[in-house]
Amino acid sequence: MCGIIGYAGVEKAVPLLLDGLESLEYRGYDSAGLALFTPAAELLTLRAAGPLTALRKKAWDSGKLEGGVGIGHTRWATHGEPSEANAHPHRSAGGKYTVVHNGIIENYETLRRELEEEGLAFSSQTDTEVIAQLLERVDTGDPLETLRLALPRLEGSYALGILYEREPDCIYCARKQSPLLAAVTESGTLLASDAAALLPYTRTVFRFEDGEMACLRKNGLRFFDSDGNDLDKTPAELARHVTAADKSGYAHFMRKEIDEQPVTVRRTLEPLLPHGAVELGAAEELLAREEIRHVLFLGCGSAYHVGAVGRLLVEELAGIPAAVDLASEFRGQAALVDPRTLVVIISQSGETADTLQALRLAKEKGARTLSVVNVEGSSIAIESDSVIYTKAGLEVAVATTKAYSTQLAVVYALAARLSECRSGNEPRDFLHALAALPDLMEEVLRASEAPALAWAEEIYTAEHAFFIGRNLDYAAAMEASLKLKEISYIHAEAYAAGELKHGTISLIERGTPVISLCCRPEVVARTKGSMEEVAARGAKLFCVTTDASFRPERRILLPKCHPLLVASLAALPMQLFAYHCAQLRGCAIDKPRNLAKSVTVE
Ligand code: F6R
Repeated sequence: MCGIIGYAGVEKAVPLLLDGLESLEYRGYDSAGLALFTPAAELLTLRAAGPLTALRKKAWDSGKLEGGVGIGHTRWATHGEPSEANAHPHRSAGGKYTVVHNGIIENYETLRRELEEEGLAFSSQTDTEVIAQLLERVDTGDPLETLRLALPRLEGSYALGILYEREPDCIYCARKQSPLLAAVTESGTLLASDAAALLPYTRTVFRFEDGEMACLRKNGLRFFDSDGNDLDKTPAELARHVTAADKSGYAHFMRKEIDEQPVTVRRTLEPLLPHGAVELGAAEELLAREEIRHVLFLGCGSAYHVGAVGRLLVEELAGIPAAVDLASEFRGQAALVDPRTLVVIISQSGETADTLQALRLAKEKGARTLSVVNVEGSSIAIESDSVIYTKAGLEVAVATTKAYSTQLAVVYALAARLSECRSGNEPRDFLHALAALPDLMEEVLRASEAPALAWAEEIYTAEHAFFIGRNLDYAAAMEASLKLKEISYIHAEAYAAGELKHGTISLIERGTPVISLCCRPEVVARTKGSMEEVAARGAKLFCVTTDASFRPERRILLPKCHPLLVASLAALPMQLFAYHCAQLRGCAIDKPRNLAKSVTVE
């Protein structure tokens, strides 16, 4: 959820660290900081609460920040409020170790108590400071050996960038369950928690595995296993469609990413639909094992909403019983899966802690696990039995748009393939419609901009809004409601239209905005009935529909499409609507308050 950058080289580190932090700021934007060795081998630390601009200003005002070795961090607060004192880097009391950290140290309270009893004074509320203090406490004079001794005492997850006072030419680092990458460039070596920060310099990266450590110097990097033995690692090339963060003239990343959807969905589908038939690559092997009796979709937030669509499609197209569950709720339940269950794990980042834990539990229970992931080489992609990558490219806005629609595209292809496995016949009409989906998405985006803005102008001052729909429309309503609330802070709820009269309708007053999704032809008539019920109680109605004959006062008409693909089209005007509401309310669209792009804590 936070971002790490490090540089050891012949260039001045500070501008490079600040640029790196800018490309990582979408991972956390509560506070930021950096630590640097000056040419005189002094260690300087700068930290600031608030957005990165505050740190930039401090760095600028401080004047002389020379030096080629440094680490930086952008924080999403977990332990302790967002403040300068809690911002990373954290330095041990005696000054020997300075640390930036992503992840959570679960036993930090015990360790802190133990260190305080030994007389060490703490200056922050963070779990990270415990790491710096522990390193100093254990210090043998050899940082690598110190790490080997100290790291086993840390429970939880970490990606670490560490400066050791007596080795001003070096950055030490280590990983456990939190992503970390390193790279060699012409001017030195780089460390980052996310490829986004490395892309301006190189596409060739070294991915840390759990338990690995490294030492970065200007003339190269060395990797070590957890016993301190040298490792010979092979670098990986980042996929071509992963490009550096760039708004390309758009006011916000979210707006750009909304427009990218037809292209990213096409790119995702291309390898899955060669010559019109569906082909899932390496995942085929997983489907070919004994018959799949049950499919379970797991994900959090929008990824869960994709699973809600997937469940309906697998049941309708393939006739296989399917379910969807929140990955964050899966642990602690009976988790009744077995080798005949296909568990489909959906995650943009591939690092969501709840989803990763759900994957591990499903594997423990013997289920077949297939992940749908956007970030190559991420933990979920690596740990699942098979992975299908969405080709959304780098998604910077915290609110997902293009990752969501590419996940839907994969889930459609999967449902079609399961249908074929079950019946021996491919669902031709569906596949034909699926291949044409990106073109329809283009059309819908073009047509939705003006009405979505007009709707936003009508309701952006509202305190509450309701989204209703049935079946796939309900799945789409859940996503529409999440989009609106997370970026505009309007309280929004999604309800299965038929459920309103069982309680929620008591909240409808004169003028309450109710956005009705009426796209799946089979349920339109019944949803119209629910709209009338809320209209009779004074609701202000808005309707997204594929039914040209239905003419409510405020309507966004979607083109005719295959009834099982409606969620992909309905999402587009709803994303634009949320975007415009947030813009009219003056919200920080790409970085909504309290949120982080990748939720690596449970
Ligand atoms: C909402 C949103 C989140 C994510 C959720 C899961 O716009 O982006 O709800 O969908 O945090 O994240 P991933 O897909 O990275 O596992």
